[in-house]
Amino acid sequence: MLFSLRRKQHFFLFTPQAAADHKVTDKEDNNPLLPQRLIFTMSSPKPMDDTKVKRGIVIDDDWPGYSLDLFTYPEHYHHDIENIYIPHGVIMNRIERLARYVMEDFEDSKIMVLCVLKGGYKFCADLVEFIKVLGRSSNRYLETRVEFIRLKSYLNDQSTEDLHIIGSSDLSFLRGKSVLIVEAIVDTGKTMKALLKHVETFEPKMVKVAGLLVKRVSNMADSFTDYVGFEIPNRFVVGYALDYNEYFRDLNHICVISKTGKMKYKV
Ligand code: HPA
Ligand code: MG
Repeated sequence: MLFSLRRKQHFFLFTPQAAADHKVTDKEDNNPLLPQRLIFTMSSPKPMDDTKVKRGIVIDDDWPGYSLDLFTYPEHYHHDIENIYIPHGVIMNRIERLARYVMEDFEDSKIMVLCVLKGGYKFCADLVEFIKVLGRSSNRYLETRVEFIRLKSYLNDQSTEDLHIIGSSDLSFLRGKSVLIVEAIVDTGKTMKALLKHVETFEPKMVKVAGLLVKRVSNMADSFTDYVGFEIPNRFVVGYALDYNEYFRDLNHICVISKTGKMKYKV
């Protein structure tokens, strides 16, 4: 079972609830001409309330991750990761869903995507790709322009409230635009709060924030994240462009680093 039964509504693909939410259609079941197999149709999904949508897929504190034997991953990280915390396929499917929320919310035909580097590069690329795919299949194209920003939010190992933008802090290209900020991980929310304040000085038309991961920390501020992929426990994770001293960005799954890995890549 994946993640949590208690919060099954956040992730129902592989839970017993999924089976309960399917109905065998009588007509098809009784038809002797059809092969004897169960034919499922999805019942209409129950609408989720806003707070649940806002938290995304909630991963419980005791989620152990998947055994490494169950997946493939780069050989050079063999001893360096503890488990597969969120498999790449699940990440991708969740991003596709987030792309749909974005399509529903943005009324403009153009959006300015502000990708927070370096960790956000894969999430941003995949999200923009899904927005394009959905545009093609729905015939409602959302033109995307992507700009990049690099932030330094940590001094030593402490998150700070000061925003350090590496490179130009002039974001005047955002003026009057519908903006989507794309960030891989939001923990205390301090950086995002500071970035939002900075972005708003350039008077964009609207601003939304997409965060692939939001950490459940004790002093969790009001969430500034409009589109959350996964709410995770306060653990250090790597992969899918998230690094530990620049390592693990080339790992597709999101994983928990092992003691060996921490020692090996310590600076
Ligand atoms: N992993 C990688 N980078 C990070 C994390 C994390 O868990 N939290 C903040 N920056
Ligand atoms: Mg980093």
